[in-house]
Amino acid sequence: MANSPTLLVTGASGQLGRRVVQLLLEAGTQNLIAGTRKPENLADVAAQGVTVRHVDFDDAASMAAAFAGVDRLLLISTDVVGVPGARQQQHLAAVQAAAKAGVKHVIYTSLVNPVETPVTLAPDHAATEAALAATHMGWTILRNNIYADSLPQTLKQAQQFGGQLFSAVGTGRIAWVTREDCARASAAALVAGFDGQRVLNITGPEALSQVDLAQMGSQLTGQPINYVPLPAEVLSSNLAGAGLPPAIVDLIVSFDTASAQGKFEAVSNDFESLTGHKATRVEDFLTRALATV
Ligand SMILES: NC(=O)c1ccc[n+]([C@@H]2O[C@H](COP(=O)([O-])OP(=O)(O)OC[C@H]3O[C@@H](n4cnc5c(N)ncnc54)[C@H](OP(=O)(O)O)[C@@H]3O)[C@@H](O)[C@H]2O)c1
Repeated sequence: MANSPTLLVTGASGQLGRRVVQLLLEAGTQNLIAGTRKPENLADVAAQGVTVRHVDFDDAASMAAAFAGVDRLLLISTDVVGVPGARQQQHLAAVQAAAKAGVKHVIYTSLVNPVETPVTLAPDHAATEAALAATHMGWTILRNNIYADSLPQTLKQAQQFGGQLFSAVGTGRIAWVTREDCARASAAALVAGFDGQRVLNITGPEALSQVDLAQMGSQLTGQPINYVPLPAEVLSSNLAGAGLPPAIVDLIVSFDTASAQGKFEAVSNDFESLTGHKATRVEDFLTRALATV
Protein backbone atom coordinates (compact mmCIF):
# COMPACT_ATOMS: atom_id res chain seq x y z
CA MET A 1 0.00 0.00 0.00
CA ALA A 2 1.55 3.28 -1.10
CA ASN A 3 0.68 5.41 1.91
CA SER A 4 1.00 2.99 4.80
CA PRO A 5 4.02 3.66 7.01
CA THR A 6 6.93 1.26 7.16
CA LEU A 7 7.02 -0.47 10.56
CA LEU A 8 9.88 -2.33 12.23
CA VAL A 9 9.79 -4.54 15.30
CA THR A 10 13.15 -5.13 17.01
CA GLY A 11 13.76 -8.30 19.00
CA ALA A 12 11.29 -10.06 16.72
CA SER A 13 12.44 -13.57 17.63
CA GLY A 14 11.82 -12.98 21.35
CA GLN A 15 8.54 -14.02 22.92
CA LEU A 16 7.05 -10.52 22.92
CA GLY A 17 8.41 -9.48 19.53
CA ARG A 18 7.32 -12.65 17.78
CA ARG A 19 3.80 -12.26 19.14
CA VAL A 20 3.63 -8.61 18.06
CA VAL A 21 4.62 -9.60 14.52
CA GLN A 22 2.05 -12.38 14.54
CA LEU A 23 -0.72 -10.02 15.71
CA LEU A 24 0.19 -7.50 13.01
CA LEU A 25 0.19 -10.21 10.35
CA GLU A 26 -3.22 -11.41 11.50
CA ALA A 27 -4.48 -7.83 11.18
CA GLY A 28 -3.19 -7.67 7.59
CA THR A 29 -0.62 -4.96 8.37
CA GLN A 30 1.43 -3.86 5.36
CA ASN A 31 5.08 -2.81 5.16
CA LEU A 32 6.15 -4.81 8.17
CA ILE A 33 9.80 -5.54 8.96
CA ALA A 34 10.95 -7.96 11.65
CA GLY A 35 14.36 -7.09 13.14
CA THR A 36 16.37 -9.68 15.02
CA ARG A 37 19.89 -10.85 15.80
CA LYS A 38 18.84 -14.24 14.45
CA PRO A 39 17.08 -13.90 11.09
CA GLU A 40 17.37 -17.68 10.66
CA ASN A 41 14.85 -18.08 13.52
CA LEU A 42 12.23 -16.13 11.59
CA ALA A 43 12.07 -18.18 8.39
CA ASP A 44 8.39 -18.91 9.11
CA VAL A 45 7.68 -15.17 9.42
CA ALA A 46 9.60 -14.40 6.21
CA ALA A 47 7.54 -17.08 4.47
CA GLN A 48 4.44 -15.06 5.34
CA GLY A 49 5.73 -12.02 3.46
CA VAL A 50 7.44 -10.14 6.27
CA THR A 51 10.84 -8.64 5.50
CA VAL A 52 13.38 -9.88 8.03
CA ARG A 53 16.44 -7.74 8.77
CA HIS A 54 19.44 -8.27 10.97
CA VAL A 55 19.20 -5.94 14.01
CA ASP A 56 21.65 -6.08 16.90
CA PHE A 57 21.85 -3.15 19.33
CA ASP A 58 25.53 -4.01 19.82
CA ASP A 59 26.15 -3.53 16.09
CA ALA A 60 25.60 0.06 14.86
CA ALA A 61 26.04 -0.93 11.20
CA SER A 62 23.21 -3.47 11.44
CA MET A 63 20.89 -0.74 12.75
CA ALA A 64 21.95 1.86 10.16
CA ALA A 65 21.07 -0.61 7.41
CA ALA A 66 17.91 -2.02 9.01
CA PHE A 67 16.33 1.26 10.15
CA ALA A 68 16.73 2.99 6.76
CA GLY A 69 13.29 3.97 5.42
CA VAL A 70 11.47 2.96 8.62
CA ASP A 71 8.73 5.32 9.82
CA ARG A 72 7.70 3.69 13.10
CA LEU A 73 9.89 1.44 15.21
CA LEU A 74 9.04 -0.80 18.15
CA LEU A 75 12.15 -0.86 20.34
CA ILE A 76 11.86 -3.91 22.57
CA SER A 77 14.07 -3.71 25.66
CA THR A 78 16.69 -6.45 25.72
CA ASP A 79 17.13 -9.26 28.22
CA VAL A 80 20.75 -8.36 28.99
CA VAL A 81 20.38 -7.79 32.74
CA GLY A 82 23.44 -9.41 34.32
CA VAL A 83 26.09 -6.97 33.02
CA PRO A 84 25.95 -3.49 34.61
CA GLY A 85 25.39 -0.74 32.05
CA ALA A 86 25.26 -3.08 29.04
CA ARG A 87 21.54 -2.89 28.39
CA GLN A 88 21.45 0.88 28.81
CA GLN A 89 24.24 1.20 26.26
CA GLN A 90 22.33 -1.04 23.84
CA HIS A 91 19.14 0.97 24.16
CA LEU A 92 20.85 4.33 23.81
CA ALA A 93 22.61 3.07 20.68
CA ALA A 94 19.24 1.98 19.26
CA VAL A 95 17.64 5.37 19.99
CA GLN A 96 20.58 7.15 18.39
CA ALA A 97 20.45 4.89 15.32
CA ALA A 98 16.70 5.46 14.94
CA ALA A 99 17.08 9.24 15.11
CA LYS A 100 19.96 9.14 12.63
CA ALA A 101 18.01 6.97 10.20
CA GLY A 102 15.08 9.41 10.20
CA VAL A 103 12.60 7.19 12.07
CA LYS A 104 9.57 9.33 12.92
CA HIS A 105 8.16 7.51 15.93
CA VAL A 106 9.62 5.04 18.43
CA ILE A 107 7.58 2.83 20.72
CA TYR A 108 9.62 1.63 23.69
CA THR A 109 8.79 -1.17 26.15
CA SER A 110 9.65 0.36 29.52
CA LEU A 111 8.67 -0.54 33.06
CA VAL A 112 6.03 0.96 35.36
CA ASN A 113 7.62 3.57 37.66
CA PRO A 114 11.16 3.52 36.22
CA VAL A 115 12.39 6.32 38.49
CA GLU A 116 12.73 6.45 42.27
CA THR A 117 12.45 2.70 42.60
CA PRO A 118 14.80 0.08 44.05
CA VAL A 119 14.45 -2.11 40.93
CA THR A 120 18.03 -2.69 39.82
CA LEU A 121 17.27 -2.64 36.10
CA ALA A 122 15.01 0.45 36.24
CA PRO A 123 17.84 2.94 35.50
CA ASP A 124 18.14 1.35 32.02
CA HIS A 125 14.52 2.21 31.34
CA ALA A 126 14.78 5.70 32.84
CA ALA A 127 17.88 6.44 30.74
CA THR A 128 16.21 5.15 27.55
CA GLU A 129 13.13 7.25 28.19
CA ALA A 130 15.34 10.30 28.77
CA ALA A 131 17.28 9.58 25.57
CA LEU A 132 14.05 9.45 23.58
CA ALA A 133 12.84 12.68 25.16
CA ALA A 134 16.08 14.37 24.08
CA THR A 135 15.48 13.56 20.38
CA HIS A 136 13.20 15.24 17.88
CA MET A 137 11.35 11.98 17.20
CA GLY A 138 7.84 11.22 18.36
CA TRP A 139 7.60 8.45 20.96
CA THR A 140 5.25 6.24 22.88
CA ILE A 141 6.63 4.87 26.12
CA LEU A 142 4.80 1.71 27.12
CA ARG A 143 5.50 1.26 30.81
CA ASN A 144 4.66 -2.41 31.18
CA ASN A 145 3.88 -3.81 34.61
CA ILE A 146 5.30 -7.14 35.80
CA TYR A 147 4.30 -10.04 33.54
CA ALA A 148 1.73 -12.41 35.02
CA ASP A 149 3.36 -15.16 32.94
CA SER A 150 5.70 -16.16 35.75
CA LEU A 151 2.81 -16.86 38.14
CA PRO A 152 2.11 -20.49 37.13
CA GLN A 153 5.74 -21.24 38.00
CA THR A 154 5.42 -19.28 41.26
CA LEU A 155 2.41 -21.37 42.26
CA LYS A 156 4.13 -24.59 41.23
CA GLN A 157 7.08 -23.69 43.43
CA ALA A 158 4.74 -22.90 46.32
CA GLN A 159 3.26 -26.38 45.93
CA GLN A 160 6.76 -27.88 45.96
CA PHE A 161 7.40 -26.01 49.23
CA GLY A 162 4.39 -27.70 50.85
CA GLY A 163 1.92 -24.96 49.95
CA GLN A 164 4.09 -22.04 51.11
CA LEU A 165 4.27 -18.98 48.88
CA PHE A 166 7.44 -17.17 49.95
CA SER A 167 8.13 -13.57 48.95
CA ALA A 168 9.33 -10.24 50.30
CA VAL A 169 6.40 -8.33 48.81
CA GLY A 170 4.89 -7.73 52.28
CA THR A 171 1.39 -6.33 51.95
CA GLY A 172 2.19 -4.76 48.58
CA ARG A 173 -0.13 -5.32 45.65
CA ILE A 174 0.76 -5.82 42.01
CA ALA A 175 -1.32 -5.04 38.91
CA TRP A 176 0.15 -8.02 36.99
CA VAL A 177 -0.22 -7.81 33.20
CA THR A 178 0.03 -10.65 30.71
CA ARG A 179 2.75 -10.70 28.06
CA GLU A 180 -0.05 -11.20 25.55
CA ASP A 181 -1.61 -7.87 26.58
CA CYS A 182 1.81 -6.20 26.35
CA ALA A 183 2.10 -7.58 22.81
CA ARG A 184 -1.35 -6.26 21.95
CA ALA A 185 -0.46 -2.85 23.35
CA SER A 186 2.81 -2.78 21.40
CA ALA A 187 1.09 -3.78 18.16
CA ALA A 188 -1.63 -1.16 18.65
CA ALA A 189 0.89 1.59 19.43
CA LEU A 190 2.98 0.68 16.39
CA VAL A 191 0.09 0.98 13.92
CA ALA A 192 -1.55 3.95 15.67
CA GLY A 193 -1.57 7.30 13.85
CA PHE A 194 -0.26 9.01 16.98
CA ASP A 195 2.89 10.98 16.22
CA GLY A 196 3.39 13.03 19.39
CA GLN A 197 4.98 11.98 22.67
CA ARG A 198 3.16 10.05 25.36
CA VAL A 199 3.67 7.70 28.29
CA LEU A 200 1.19 4.85 28.80
CA ASN A 201 1.03 2.48 31.75
CA ILE A 202 0.20 -1.05 30.61
CA THR A 203 -1.20 -2.85 33.63
CA GLY A 204 -3.67 -5.52 34.51
CA PRO A 205 -7.23 -4.57 35.56
CA GLU A 206 -6.71 -5.15 39.31
CA ALA A 207 -3.93 -5.12 41.89
CA LEU A 208 -3.48 -8.33 43.87
CA SER A 209 -1.72 -8.95 47.16
CA GLN A 210 0.27 -12.10 47.84
CA VAL A 211 -2.62 -13.27 50.03
CA ASP A 212 -4.97 -12.79 47.06
CA LEU A 213 -2.56 -14.76 44.89
CA ALA A 214 -2.26 -17.58 47.42
CA GLN A 215 -6.06 -17.81 47.71
CA MET A 216 -6.45 -17.84 43.95
CA GLY A 217 -3.77 -20.51 43.65
CA SER A 218 -5.49 -22.64 46.30
CA GLN A 219 -8.80 -22.45 44.47
CA LEU A 220 -7.36 -23.11 41.03
CA THR A 221 -5.05 -25.97 42.01
CA GLY A 222 -7.27 -27.52 44.66
CA GLN A 223 -4.29 -27.56 47.06
CA PRO A 224 -3.95 -25.09 49.93
CA ILE A 225 -1.34 -22.38 49.39
CA ASN A 226 -0.50 -19.85 52.10
CA TYR A 227 1.52 -16.69 51.83
CA VAL A 228 4.67 -16.68 53.98
CA PRO A 229 6.16 -13.17 54.09
CA LEU A 230 9.96 -13.02 54.26
CA PRO A 231 12.23 -10.08 55.07
CA ALA A 232 14.17 -9.01 51.96
CA GLU A 233 17.49 -10.07 53.58
CA VAL A 234 16.18 -13.59 54.18
CA LEU A 235 14.89 -13.89 50.61
CA SER A 236 18.25 -12.67 49.37
CA SER A 237 20.25 -15.25 51.33
CA ASN A 238 17.81 -18.02 50.38
CA LEU A 239 18.19 -17.23 46.67
CA ALA A 240 21.97 -16.96 46.97
CA GLY A 241 21.96 -20.28 48.83
CA ALA A 242 20.02 -21.83 45.94
CA GLY A 243 22.94 -20.89 43.67
CA LEU A 244 21.54 -17.90 41.80
CA PRO A 245 24.12 -15.36 40.57
CA PRO A 246 24.36 -12.21 42.74
CA ALA A 247 22.99 -9.89 40.01
CA ILE A 248 19.89 -12.06 39.61
CA VAL A 249 19.41 -12.32 43.39
CA ASP A 250 19.57 -8.53 43.65
CA LEU A 251 17.18 -8.17 40.72
CA ILE A 252 14.55 -10.48 42.18
CA VAL A 253 14.80 -8.96 45.66
CA SER A 254 14.62 -5.45 44.21
CA PHE A 255 11.37 -6.29 42.41
CA ASP A 256 9.90 -7.60 45.68
CA THR A 257 11.09 -4.54 47.61
CA ALA A 258 9.60 -2.19 45.01
CA SER A 259 6.36 -4.20 45.07
CA ALA A 260 6.27 -3.92 48.87
CA GLN A 261 6.57 -0.14 48.41
CA GLY A 262 3.55 -0.15 46.09
CA LYS A 263 5.52 0.70 42.94
CA PHE A 264 3.53 -1.82 40.86
CA GLU A 265 0.07 -1.45 42.35
CA ALA A 266 -1.45 1.37 40.28
CA VAL A 267 -4.13 0.16 37.86
CA SER A 268 -4.32 2.10 34.61
CA ASN A 269 -6.95 2.27 31.88
CA ASP A 270 -4.33 2.92 29.21
CA PHE A 271 -4.40 -0.63 27.80
CA GLU A 272 -8.13 -0.40 27.17
CA SER A 273 -7.88 3.11 25.70
CA LEU A 274 -5.10 1.99 23.35
CA THR A 275 -6.48 -1.36 22.23
CA GLY A 276 -10.24 -1.08 22.80
CA HIS A 277 -10.13 -4.27 24.88
CA LYS A 278 -10.20 -4.96 28.60
CA ALA A 279 -6.93 -6.14 30.11
CA THR A 280 -6.80 -9.80 31.14
CA ARG A 281 -7.55 -10.66 34.77
CA VAL A 282 -4.93 -12.80 36.51
CA GLU A 283 -7.58 -15.33 37.47
CA ASP A 284 -8.61 -15.80 33.84
CA PHE A 285 -4.99 -16.02 32.74
CA LEU A 286 -4.15 -18.58 35.44
CA THR A 287 -7.24 -20.64 34.75
CA ARG A 288 -6.13 -21.06 31.14
CA ALA A 289 -2.43 -21.44 31.94
CA LEU A 290 -2.91 -24.07 34.65
CA ALA A 291 -5.22 -26.08 32.40
CA THR A 292 -2.37 -26.53 29.93
CA VAL A 293 0.37 -27.38 32.46
N1 LIG B 1 7.60 -6.54 32.48
C1 LIG B 1 8.10 -7.72 32.78
O1 LIG B 1 7.70 -8.40 33.74
C2 LIG B 1 9.16 -8.31 31.92
C3 LIG B 1 9.51 -9.66 32.08
C4 LIG B 1 10.49 -10.19 31.26
C5 LIG B 1 11.11 -9.38 30.31
N2 LIG B 1 10.77 -8.08 30.19
C6 LIG B 1 11.41 -7.17 29.20
O2 LIG B 1 10.63 -7.25 28.01
C7 LIG B 1 11.47 -7.70 26.92
C8 LIG B 1 10.66 -8.61 26.01
O3 LIG B 1 10.17 -9.67 26.78
P1 LIG B 1 10.20 -11.15 26.23
O4 LIG B 1 9.28 -11.90 27.11
O5 LIG B 1 10.00 -11.16 24.76
O6 LIG B 1 11.72 -11.57 26.54
P2 LIG B 1 12.63 -12.66 25.75
O7 LIG B 1 11.77 -13.69 25.09
O8 LIG B 1 13.65 -13.10 26.75
O9 LIG B 1 13.33 -11.83 24.62
C9 LIG B 1 14.54 -11.16 24.81
C10 LIG B 1 14.60 -10.04 23.79
O10 LIG B 1 15.82 -9.34 23.87
C11 LIG B 1 16.23 -9.07 22.52
N3 LIG B 1 17.67 -8.82 22.48
C12 LIG B 1 18.64 -9.43 23.23
N4 LIG B 1 19.85 -8.94 22.88
C13 LIG B 1 19.64 -8.03 21.90
C14 LIG B 1 20.50 -7.21 21.13
N5 LIG B 1 21.84 -7.23 21.28
N6 LIG B 1 19.94 -6.37 20.21
C15 LIG B 1 18.61 -6.34 20.03
N7 LIG B 1 17.73 -7.09 20.74
C16 LIG B 1 18.26 -7.94 21.65
C17 LIG B 1 15.84 -10.33 21.77
O11 LIG B 1 15.80 -10.11 20.37
P3 LIG B 1 16.33 -11.15 19.24
O12 LIG B 1 16.68 -12.44 19.95
O13 LIG B 1 15.19 -11.33 18.28
O14 LIG B 1 17.49 -10.46 18.62
C18 LIG B 1 14.45 -10.56 22.36
O15 LIG B 1 13.48 -9.75 21.75
C19 LIG B 1 12.66 -8.41 27.59
O16 LIG B 1 13.79 -8.38 26.75
C20 LIG B 1 12.83 -7.57 28.85
O17 LIG B 1 13.55 -6.38 28.59
C21 LIG B 1 9.78 -7.53 30.96
